[in-house]
Amino acid sequence: MTDSPSIVSKTDPAHILVGVAWPYCNGEQHIGHIAGAYLPPDIFARYQRMIGNKVLMVSGSDTHGTPVTIKADEEGITPPQVIDRYHPLFIESYLKLGLTFDLFTHTDTENHWNVTQDMFLRHHEKGLISKATEKQLFDPRDGRFLPDRYVEGICPKCGNEEARGDQCDNCGATYDATELKSPRSKISGNTELEVRETEHFFLELGKLNDDLLKWFPGENSHWRPHVANFTRSQLEEKSLRARPITRDLSWGVRIPLEGYDSKCFYVWYDAVIGYLSATKEWAAINGDSEAWRKWWDSTVSGTNPRSYYFIGKDNIPFHTIIWPAMLQGYGGLNLPHDVPANQYLNMAGRKFSKSRGSIISIRNVLERYQPDAWRYALTAMAPETVDVDFTWDDFVGRVNSELLAKWGNLVNRVLSFVAKRFDGKVPEIGDLDEVDTALQADILRGFESVGKLYGGVKLRGAAQELCRLTDQVNNYITQKAPFKMVKEDPAAAGTVIAVALQCITWLNTLWSPILPHSAQQTWEMLGFEGQLFGRQWTEEIEDGRGKHLVLRYDHDGAIGVWHPVSLPPGQKLGEPRPLFVKLDEKVAEEEGGS
Ligand code: MF3
Ligand code: ZN
Repeated sequence: MTDSPSIVSKTDPAHILVGVAWPYCNGEQHIGHIAGAYLPPDIFARYQRMIGNKVLMVSGSDTHGTPVTIKADEEGITPPQVIDRYHPLFIESYLKLGLTFDLFTHTDTENHWNVTQDMFLRHHEKGLISKATEKQLFDPRDGRFLPDRYVEGICPKCGNEEARGDQCDNCGATYDATELKSPRSKISGNTELEVRETEHFFLELGKLNDDLLKWFPGENSHWRPHVANFTRSQLEEKSLRARPITRDLSWGVRIPLEGYDSKCFYVWYDAVIGYLSATKEWAAINGDSEAWRKWWDSTVSGTNPRSYYFIGKDNIPFHTIIWPAMLQGYGGLNLPHDVPANQYLNMAGRKFSKSRGSIISIRNVLERYQPDAWRYALTAMAPETVDVDFTWDDFVGRVNSELLAKWGNLVNRVLSFVAKRFDGKVPEIGDLDEVDTALQADILRGFESVGKLYGGVKLRGAAQELCRLTDQVNNYITQKAPFKMVKEDPAAAGTVIAVALQCITWLNTLWSPILPHSAQQTWEMLGFEGQLFGRQWTEEIEDGRGKHLVLRYDHDGAIGVWHPVSLPPGQKLGEPRPLFVKLDEKVAEEEGGS
């Protein structure tokens, strides 16, 4: 069993940029965010690293815009104080959950400001920026403009009564706040608003429409159908309009031109630039400030760069239209290869929303349940094609009857048996029959089938396939009954156990992108040494705008590869300990509802 079915020889590794939606730094993240946009990129990134590609996974706190200023207003504190509160909490959860960001930073940094201003000036130079007066809602009582989330009203497209000034959470439409029906101020509730004129910069998206159509990979491509449909209809209508990219706000990246002191960039203009600025920050921190180019510039020979953006569906227009347009307009930078946006994970039919309640905070639940339990459950229920309702009963079922009953018990049963009956050593392998070789071949094929699913961002499918393969080993043990056989024929029982242990070793590799923590434990219990994955740590960085905390990952020294490792007979195993904690059936009740 030395042949490996699927190892890619990596003389020319691809450079995979894994962009992760930048979370608004205005509240804690809930499990809907994690299932939608944070866990999937980590599983994907871990897999890509295992097959030998060079991954750069970046994101950071989205610190600008009205989501943050409204939070500050509500609490009577400043935006930097809001950031100081939530940014470290994001990092704390990502560390616990094992999200391997090569860099998780934030947007209130000197580097990010520079990169944003540079992009604007380039867009400006290339004639992609225009200036125009725009009609904006103005609250005469408070004497101020009401950009974006400062106003709420009825969505002009779908009638949702809680639509925000810039986007409707219900149908995903983006529009001008003046198009809202019955607008009201979010701060004062005032419905007597005026429309006033104010001057802003606009990005001329229309000029990039044809270029984008040429780039768009189409509906029968590797893109998810809902993402491709949306994008196609926008691009083919040829109706891309100029969009304002500045706001009457004092909190945000300043406009690098004279006379705009009371304005700043629209949060969405600067936030998407974070993907680029974070890779530059990463390169600078690592002491090779040009290294970022390998992920962005296809003309750097042999780098084969490809970018993936992991987001929730409300972010689709910004990642399949606006960000590609901005990159195209800038020139020389790679456009997205894929945008595997997820649908929503809802709580009892209601969309999770940080600002509107009904949240299950990830940080909070990581205090009570194992990270790999969440990683498995949220992958098994991933809202890849349709919205999914989260229930605590479902969570308990996924953990107890799938993760623990199939995989955890298999590992535990076999390893405990070896400790008891075979002196804690891998038994000698005797002659194999068809059943043995068929099982081994099946599990080995998993390197192909599961690999394809991970690589194609079909993570829910990967979890299903892994359960199916795991069941095959369970069935094999049921059929061969080594626990009974051991008294009469210890050698034959030893062969069965050795085959099972070998399959467990392979399966452990296949599971490891989803279950990195328990995979490391299993690896050690199988008697192997070394770390399957790299090291994560936090660090404080200082620049011209002050200090900011970052989360980092270094893959150097990681030994986990997408390759069927042999488990040598006679290898001394570590002490078996259960992988997963069984959840009490009362969890749903205790957590306040099923
Ligand atoms: N902050 C936005 C949200 O939480 C996502 C921004 S993604 C980025 O919905 F591309 F703009 F960074
Ligand atoms: Zn709507």
